[in-house]
Amino acid sequence: MQDLLNEYQTIGVDKVKVWVKAGTVDDFPTNGGACIKYKKKQIAVFNFTTMSRWYACQNLCPHKMEMVISRGMIGDKDQIPKVACPLHKKTFSLENGTNMEGEDYKLATYPVRIADGAVFVGFSE
Ligand code: FES
Repeated sequence: MQDLLNEYQTIGVDKVKVWVKAGTVDDFPTNGGACIKYKKKQIAVFNFTTMSRWYACQNLCPHKMEMVISRGMIGDKDQIPKVACPLHKKTFSLENGTNMEGEDYKLATYPVRIADGAVFVGFSE
């Protein structure tokens, strides 16, 4: 299980080596998410329309190791955008992946770029 979790490491925009096209803007529901696959990774991509922002993070919830985060509900707490896992409602910051209840769970996050109506997620390899 730890091996699966180790697949996911937060990538800052300065560490991006490849921008992978995740689809077009229209492929993602407004104020919702969808899952893409890149190599062995499942990545949740969120179109946070209300905040006019896009986010990407691992689709794997570190609580019970379920691939469900893309189906989570998004919102904000004190202006910090967040996603709630659909299974047990643990919430994570979409900015840095930390658990918002202070628990020792974390999501890896990835940069998102929009260009010419397409959505790109940044990876280091
Ligand atoms: S599996 Fe996500 S909160 Fe439990």
